[in-house]
Amino acid sequence: MSLLIICRFISFLLALEVSMAIVPLDFGPKVQLNCSNTIHVDQSGRGNFESIKAAVDSVPPNNSQWICIYVKQGVYKERVFISRDRPFIYIVGDGLRQTQIVSNGTDPIDATATFITHAANIIIQGISFINSYNYPAIGSPNPMTQAVAAKIEGDKTAFYECGFYGLQDTLWDHSGRHYFKDCIIEGAVDFIFGAGQSIYENCVISVVGEAIGSEGFITSHSRQSPEETSGFVFKHCYIGGNGKTYLGRPWRKYARVIYYKTFMSNIIVPHGWAAASSTSQDQGLLTFVDDECFGPGANTSERPDWANKLNPEELQKFVCISYINSDG
Ligand SMILES: *[C@@H]1O[C@H](CO)[C@@H](O)[C@H](O)[C@H]1NC(C)=O
Ligand SMILES: *[C@@H]1O[C@H](CO)[C@@H](O)[C@H](O)[C@H]1NC(C)=O
Ligand SMILES: *[C@@H]1O[C@H](CO)[C@@H](O)[C@H](O)[C@H]1NC(C)=O
Ligand SMILES: *[C@@H]1O[C@H](CO)[C@@H](O)[C@H](O)[C@H]1NC(C)=O
Repeated sequence: MSLLIICRFISFLLALEVSMAIVPLDFGPKVQLNCSNTIHVDQSGRGNFESIKAAVDSVPPNNSQWICIYVKQGVYKERVFISRDRPFIYIVGDGLRQTQIVSNGTDPIDATATFITHAANIIIQGISFINSYNYPAIGSPNPMTQAVAAKIEGDKTAFYECGFYGLQDTLWDHSGRHYFKDCIIEGAVDFIFGAGQSIYENCVISVVGEAIGSEGFITSHSRQSPEETSGFVFKHCYIGGNGKTYLGRPWRKYARVIYYKTFMSNIIVPHGWAAASSTSQDQGLLTFVDDECFGPGANTSERPDWANKLNPEELQKFVCISYINSDG
């Protein structure tokens, strides 16, 4: 039985507008902000800065007005960090194939991601974040290890038309409310992980499982208690690639991951979901759902009996944008 799910037409970014009242927004495919200042980054020296790090560092501490940073096409070999006291930054590249940020950090994974953001109210568009330590996976000289491309730790953060490339632990969706739209996320093992409260809409999940020679895991969510509001929701996404993969395994006991109206190619293992524990008590704490999905990997007949236990009313709470749009 499926209930027609009607989401109220509120957007995450409209909430930013209401709470800020200084940001006129246009709901086209691209976000348009009335930036108080636009900084140009260009490796050829014709902009204000030649590195993205220098541009971000030029934003005054405790910034309260939207500042736009336009990053001209190029491969930027650097690490970029947005500290907590630099909110309201909108970084726009020339497209995910044109503007790339690349580095190869692995240890400690907390501090070596190519991109790390701690501030609230951050919007990124048209940029790829790459951790090249194990990427491209085929032919990589390095043994597989945790190599994070982006770690997102600020609240109210949105990515449009962005790419995240790695092999293990590509995207650390660490904490806070996040929205990913029209993005591509690539990897093989736990490559979307953390305790974020996030909606991924119309995104491509690109699995490079052949590179590891065993079954991988798309997600590893880290909800620790029943009070936590965190969860990963994939809506109208596309899962493809090579090898074999699970939809997810838990990082912590109350992990919550939902795939809704998502295409799944035949790379999904029939069991679909992995549990950390074999006791039914522990398995019952997990919220792992794939509902109204389609494609050869979406047959749920062999999914474990502890998966897919949300009723339509419960599901509706997660697949609507209000899941990440409400305060508290
Ligand atoms: C942007 O803000 C300025 C100053 O507040 C205003 O004059 C201008 O009309 C605004 N532009 C747009 C496109 O809203
Ligand atoms: C920014 O705000 C924080 C918290 O209010 C304050 O502790 C800090 O000194 C401020 N920084 C600057 C450079 O004004
Ligand atoms: C990481 O990148 C640096 C700088 O580009 C390079 O010198 C180094 O060889 C790379 N290390 C690995 C293990 O790929
Ligand atoms: C789903 O899988 C089961 C068991 O493997 C099979 O019997 C059934 O025909 C499949 N359903 C569809 C729609 O392919």
